[in-house]
Formats: sequence, C-alpha cells, structure tokens
Amino acid sequence: PGSSMIDPFGRAITYLRVSVTDRCDFRCVYCMAENMTFLPKKDLLSLEELERLCTVFIEKGVRKLRLTGGEPLVRKNIMHLVRQLSQHLKTGALEELTLTTNGSQLERFAEELADCGVRRINVSIDTLDPEKFHAITRWGHLDKVMRGIDAAQAAGIQIKINAVALKGFNELELPDMLRWAHRRGFDMTIIETMPMGDIDGDRTEQYLPLSQVRAQLAREFTLTDIDYKTGGPARYVRVEETGGRLGFITPLTHNFCESCNRVRLTCTGTLYMCLGQEDAADLRTPLRMSESNELVSQAIDEAIGRKPKGHDFVIDRRTKRPSIARHMSVTGG
Ligand code: GTP
Ligand code: 5AD
Ligand code: SF4
Repeated sequence: PGSSMIDPFGRAITYLRVSVTDRCDFRCVYCMAENMTFLPKKDLLSLEELERLCTVFIEKGVRKLRLTGGEPLVRKNIMHLVRQLSQHLKTGALEELTLTTNGSQLERFAEELADCGVRRINVSIDTLDPEKFHAITRWGHLDKVMRGIDAAQAAGIQIKINAVALKGFNELELPDMLRWAHRRGFDMTIIETMPMGDIDGDRTEQYLPLSQVRAQLAREFTLTDIDYKTGGPARYVRVEETGGRLGFITPLTHNFCESCNRVRLTCTGTLYMCLGQEDAADLRTPLRMSESNELVSQAIDEAIGRKPKGHDFVIDRRTKRPSIARHMSVTGG
C-alpha cells in the first residue's frame, strides 16, 4: 500500500518522526544551551492527542514511526503511547515503531519496549570516554547509558549508535568507537553537525565535514558501499575488517533531500515539513476543533503540498548565526 501523501516533488511521505517532548535530561553542547527555555507545558498535546495524530498519519500512509525528543523516555507515561502505537504493528499498518534516545532511561524501559514490538533503536553516543561524555552532555553519565544499551541488547533490540562528528572532540576517537560498536554487533552512523538553535559555543569551530572523516577512516579500514536502506538519510558502507555497517549522514557535504520521505511532528502538534526550514503547520487547532479527523487530514494534505525541496543549512565562518533558530530538541532531528 502506497502513501496518499505525495509532495510537490513526487516524494512519498512514509516516515513520521514525533518529538514527544522537547525536554531532555542531558544538555549536549551542540544541541542545547546550558539554560534552555522549553515549550510551555500548557501547549503540550496529551498522549491521547499525539496518538490520534499518529493514527491519522498511519491511515494516510506512514509506515515507519520514530519517537524522538528531547529525550523521548523522559516524557511522563511514554510507555502508554508506545503500547497504543504498537497496535498498528499488530495490524500490519505500521512496519516499524522505533525510538532515538540518549539511553539514560533504557535500563528501565528496554524490556517493555521490546514487548511492544520495538525491534531497533538508535542511541546517541559521541564518545566512549566517561569524562568527555560528561563534558559533551553536560549532565550525562556514560555508565548509565552503557547499562541501558546492555539492557536493550539483552531484550533482543538491535542498536544503532549515532555519533555527531566534532572537530577537536571525537575525530581521533571515531576509529575506536567504530571497532567497539561493531564488536558489540551494533550499526553506527556518523553525523555532520547541523546549525540549529543558539548554543553557547561557536558551531563553525566544531564542524567536521564527513568527506574528511571518511578519508581518514579509509586509511585504517576498507569501506565498501552497500545498498542497505533503513528509510533514514544515512548512506552505508560495510567495514571489511569488522564486518559491521557504518553510515554517513551528510546534510552539508552530500545533501540527501532528493529522496526525503519524512515529516516531523512536535509535542505541541506543529508539523515541520523539513528539519532545515521554518515553515510549519498547526495541527493542534484542527485536532481540537472536531472529533472527526477530517480537518486534521486536510491540514496535513495542505502542509505536504508545500513541503520544500530541501534545507539550506550553511556552516560558514562569516555566518555565526544558526541557519535555523529552532533548537534540534524541538523537532527531534
Ligand atoms: P534509521 O531509521 O536508523 O535510518 O534512523 P534515522 O537516521 O532516520 O534517525 P536518527 O534519529 O538516528 O537520526 C540520525 C540523524 O539524522 C540525526 O542527526 C537527524 O537529525 C538526522 N536526520 C534525519 N532525517 C533528516 C533529514 O531529513 N534531514 C536532515 N538534515 N537530517 C536528518
Ligand atoms: N547536528 C547534528 N546532529 C544533532 N543531534 C542533535 N543536535 C544535532 C545537531 N545540531 C543528533 C543527536 C541525536 C540525533 C537525533 O541528532 O546526537 O543522535
Ligand atoms: Fe538531549 Fe539529544 Fe539534545 Fe543531547 S542531543 S541534549 S541527548 S536531545
């Protein structure tokens, strides 16, 4: 069954990313400022409303649904939403229900997630050094995340490690991280930092083009292009020495917008058609206006009808301002 959501460039929308909260128990330096103003609690959709919106999207053709944040597992009663959404896996309407998490709460939730049919999760880890980990996340503890990963693996969940490439921070460590991930049987993706939201530092100093990272890794490893596809933006290689998969997410050096299949819903019911654009549609008003889903469905069609061709992120020494003022934690990446 195809999607009824086709954008002006002929791209079918089959992947919905839902940021269930903009809050997080970490403060990663490339993602947030130390002092953050969060969305007002009164504007939040209830879990029931989020579920209703997700169901409309699934009826319209979404096959892959990812909960993000902030940190999705810090939203109160989040497992209630996961449990509800898992019904769509049972009917076959949804092919994948998954999560991108910082791992801090995984120890507690791993088994229940597996029980709800979550087969794969993405965990963000930018370094394996406990002190550096604490520095980059400001508030995080690596040992807790590691216990979370162990619990997820024990529950039979497949894991992908997300690492943002940061100059002077983890560039020298990436080969070791890769060996570690593959030894544990995890996929890994390396991500170019995107200029979203005011952070306390200067992003141009952290930016590391992945063309450079790939060339560096290619001195140590044999990287073979493969056509492994998840529906996400990564381009994968097989690392011959480890037998594992490595993906590159390159919004800046090798734009992947042409094959975009996704839109993003925030915890206040705002729909962003592109991570790297400000244009958005309010779904909360039509949702609350009527018990029928007709108005929401129309609002979604209108929004998809103006999905932009792509982002215009730039990281340039002359442009110190972020391309997008909104923080990553609002739209969940
Ligand atoms: P898979 O299903 O495993 O492929 O996951 P994913 O890569 O789709 O999701 P994940 O949450 O792990 O995202 C990894 C990185 O890709 C994050 O930094 C996201 O911000 C980024 N990303 C995902 N989709 C897009 C997109 O459409 N545009 C841009 N610029 N970045 C994206
Ligand atoms: N650029 C690139 N990736 C980012 N993430 C958070 N902020 C940024 C940014 N500015 C990553 C997180 C997580 C994923 C959802 O997005 O590390 O793995
Ligand atoms: Fe939290 Fe993720 Fe942002 Fe880090 S990148 S502060 S873990 S939302």
